Amino acid sequence: MKIKNICCIGAGYVGGPTMAIIAQKSPEITVTVVDINEKRIAAWNDEDVNNIPIYEPGLADVVAEARGRNLFFSTDVDKAIDEADMIFISVNTPTKTYGIGKGMAADLKYIELCARQIARVAKTDKIVVEKSTLPVRTAEALKNILDNTGNGVNFQILSNPEFLAEGTAVSDLHKPDRVLIGGDLDTDEGKEAIQALVDVYAHWVTKDNILTTNVWSSELSKLTANAFLAQRVSSINALSELCEQTGADIKEVAKAIGMDSRIGPKFLQASVGFGGSCFQKDILNLVYIAKSFGLNEVADYWEQVIIMNDHQKRRFAAKMVKTLYNTVSGKKIALLGWAFKKDTNDTRESAAIYVADYLLIEQAELVIYDPKVNKEQILADLDCLGTRSEEENRANITVVNNAMDAANDAHAIAIMTEWDEFKALDWEQVYNDMLKPAFLFDGRRLLDRHELEAIGFEFYAIGS
Ligand code: UDX
Ligand code: ADP
Repeated sequence: MKIKNICCIGAGYVGGPTMAIIAQKSPEITVTVVDINEKRIAAWNDEDVNNIPIYEPGLADVVAEARGRNLFFSTDVDKAIDEADMIFISVNTPTKTYGIGKGMAADLKYIELCARQIARVAKTDKIVVEKSTLPVRTAEALKNILDNTGNGVNFQILSNPEFLAEGTAVSDLHKPDRVLIGGDLDTDEGKEAIQALVDVYAHWVTKDNILTTNVWSSELSKLTANAFLAQRVSSINALSELCEQTGADIKEVAKAIGMDSRIGPKFLQASVGFGGSCFQKDILNLVYIAKSFGLNEVADYWEQVIIMNDHQKRRFAAKMVKTLYNTVSGKKIALLGWAFKKDTNDTRESAAIYVADYLLIEQAELVIYDPKVNKEQILADLDCLGTRSEEENRANITVVNNAMDAANDAHAIAIMTEWDEFKALDWEQVYNDMLKPAFLFDGRRLLDRHELEAIGFEFYAIGS
């Protein structure tokens, strides 16, 4: 079976970039990305390709190449479903904020709505691909809804988790370590559907890098990969606290252990804590699944990764308060960076949000700058926490357009995101503009201690 028409429901951080690359690499396949968010679709269709709603290095060029040729963005979900042979579901699956599993389980209401819409609209056989990260066995629920509410057409469900990391999405998609496709390996129809998706990726990925498994293995592999990566960050962060007490330097420890080829050097960067839409959500999912099977030790083991991460964010803010003579009340503190990592405008679960919240509880006056995140988003992130009223947030936060303005007359600066431009700042000038003593807290181990201390800064870096 040859796929001619793909529809992707959800034009977010996963759906947008993934479909752009599929369209770029497969000119004979029509790819339509749909979303109920009209503003988002309008931005994807903006004449100036630099205004697309997601910032990713290289993405605007890919969209410019394929958009209007075989890549389309639309709000007409029904039409796109109707015309497609293959439908990707890339909608959001946030952690539940209510009811059973609150704070842990994934909220599958958006997935279920999609399934019901597909069932209602589809008049020909379709392959439905789960792209969103989902709890194990969601494919089964999808199949149930599709088979029981559909128009008698045949649906094949595949799991095809996305492993791209934000900030490097385009290169990750161009050269994936592996593509994972889970499907029904026991039937001819299942095998045919798997092959159809393999053929899409085979436009640019070598066959050896395309893995096929059963659906459950594929679903669980995605959660496991993220849990392992997050665990490495929490492990190095746990030891960063010990380093601060003992005089060891976590950067040196990370280098020394990373040279052991069994451990490897990646994901050993101590930080103020991991953020992003995936790590916390996926681990909470894993914990919830383990608990629901009565596997309490397994659940507790993984939950500790999150507990450590929360501790790291709190600890960083507490260190700031303690260093600033136990009070930040009324003091101007500059936060440089708001995105959860560099080269993205995504702020979901960013450590900066929580550090800002702790500092605001201590009545600090925050001045915030991020190269790609605007004021509206920063305030929305803090409003979402519900710690204080929207008026209070606006009264105590100023968002500025460059790092120098943030630093002016500040008591302290904290680096929250490792944007390259912060490394390149004229730190001598920054120092001159600040109140003295000038404190600098590096939550990302971005800056050189010796250089900054030579300028005159009171410098604190995670893990040293
Ligand atoms: C992650 C996975 O890497 C990706 O495969 C999956 O598809 C989605 O989740 P992402 O969340 O985009 O990707 O970013 P990632 O690079 O994994 O970083 C996650 C967080 O961990 C960031 O806040 C980052 O700053 C932090 N981190 C990462 C560290 O603090 N130290 C490290 O050594 C690595
Ligand atoms: P991710 O990081 O997983 O891509 P995002 O939140 O960035 O998550 O994107 C998910 C997108 O899915 C959002 O733009 C949202 O509007 C869209 N969406 C959610 N439910 C539906 C639906 N039923 N139909 C169409 N789009 C949907």
